[in-house]
Amino acid sequence: MVTQEFEMETAKQQASDVLTVEDFDAVEFWVGNAFQAAYYYQHALGFEPVAWSSLKTGNRKYVSYVMQQGNAKIILSSPYSGATERSAHHSMHGDGVKTIGLRVRDAQTAWDNALERGANGITPPTEIKDEYGTLRYSVISTYGDVVHKFIERDGYDGIYMPGYQPFKPEVETSQKGVVRIDHIVGNVNWNQMDPTVQFYHQVFGFAQFIEFSADDINTQYSALQSKVVRSYNNRVKMPINEPAPGLKMSQIEEYINYYHSAGVQHIALSSNNIIETVTQMREKGVEFINIPKTYYEDLTDRVGEIKEDIETLAKLGILVDRDEKGYLLQLFTKPIQDRPTFFYEVIQRRGSNGFGKGNFRALFEAIEIEQAERGNL
Ligand code: FE2
Repeated sequence: MVTQEFEMETAKQQASDVLTVEDFDAVEFWVGNAFQAAYYYQHALGFEPVAWSSLKTGNRKYVSYVMQQGNAKIILSSPYSGATERSAHHSMHGDGVKTIGLRVRDAQTAWDNALERGANGITPPTEIKDEYGTLRYSVISTYGDVVHKFIERDGYDGIYMPGYQPFKPEVETSQKGVVRIDHIVGNVNWNQMDPTVQFYHQVFGFAQFIEFSADDINTQYSALQSKVVRSYNNRVKMPINEPAPGLKMSQIEEYINYYHSAGVQHIALSSNNIIETVTQMREKGVEFINIPKTYYEDLTDRVGEIKEDIETLAKLGILVDRDEKGYLLQLFTKPIQDRPTFFYEVIQRRGSNGFGKGNFRALFEAIEIEQAERGNL
């Protein structure tokens, strides 16, 4: 299957480097019980707890675990007190992403240019130091209650940031082969996709490079539309979804009804061996969206020759899509907290730069079965 949306870039949509963004940095979740979340991240998803900040390291306000697998860093934080921004955030949203870290060459330049181009500033450039060196950061807001933290870490050799101490887990971590964060997807409310894409273009200099209309990705009942923005070097890719009218409730609406605002819908974790990664995650109890077996019957007709054994893919529920540059393999977990909000994707790219458009129908029909079971379709 060939998707025709690639290289939609026009002169107007050329990506620029005004904020000096190089890559994703750590993503921070504010959760209800960081201690127990860290157990799931370590033993089910394969993230090593490498550093923490807590009462035992002198942090009287909140606990924060740094979980790492390959270059992907996830921070899990919970407050020690009820009368805080963190606890109010958790009360409203449940567990969810607060901060999308972006590594920049210069936190001051990122801040100056972002504000000059219309961003809402949260924390001006701040320098913090410990025995591992000096780190500079600044923070601006984006959709919902999510913020972007610009992190300049060239002068810093520590694990994450000053204030965090190395953490030694009691039990070894069996890593699942995740190498980095591939993309991070935001869900926004009705009519907010275009202004959000415009924000990333205007403020960040990011370019829109793929668009999925409601026609591409509707099913019998519900629909969504999506546009993808990317950084000049293609390392930071962020699809933005909004609901589209359908006969019944869009999965994006369901998310917003339970998250109570725009927010991060999923993070795609990139693996170099998705079969091994998913086998190990399934063994540890990670639950994935179930795709009907019929999906695999004509898979070769749709995607051509692939290196992987189709029976193995069917057994694990891994999806395949192809475009003119190659193919990709992907699948999606069920929500990883009680609210039907955030989930993970595992992805392996074999040349394709896409997001699995050819899988949308099968995937969304499977998600609708889940929605119906929750009474939300
Ligand atoms: Fe994705």
